[in-house]
Amino acid sequence: MEHFQNPKNVGEISDADGVGTVGNASCGDIMQMFIRVNDNKIAEATFKTFGCGAAIATSSILTDRIKGATLDEALKISEETSKEILSQLPKDKTPCFTIAMDALRLAIEEYRCKRMGIHEKGGFDSTKMEKD
Ligand code: FES
Repeated sequence: MEHFQNPKNVGEISDADGVGTVGNASCGDIMQMFIRVNDNKIAEATFKTFGCGAAIATSSILTDRIKGATLDEALKISEETSKEILSQLPKDKTPCFTIAMDALRLAIEEYRCKRMGIHEKGGFDSTKMEKD
């Protein structure tokens, strides 16, 4: 409830290193995650969403937890947070959190692809991505 009433990390990073945008097919809502990366660690993570209270609260929790983490750690934290949050959310609210996870994954993917200079027509080729 605290993260719903006073969400943290709301907004856009204007010159973000990575941005991920995902739609929730079940409701039509949109989630955007923004990351700034310094020394291969997430220095800042924010989100914007047209989603529901569950999407807002879980994105607030996720963005808070990944600050200071390496990119691989952030993905791991995302998985761990997922298990914790999904065990507490009603089943019909599952996509409200998974769009935050997916948007974070895409933001990290975009950052890694930019760093590698991979800008292929039609999108990024995730098979060419490097690890931390
Ligand atoms: Fe759309 Fe939750 S109902 S994100």
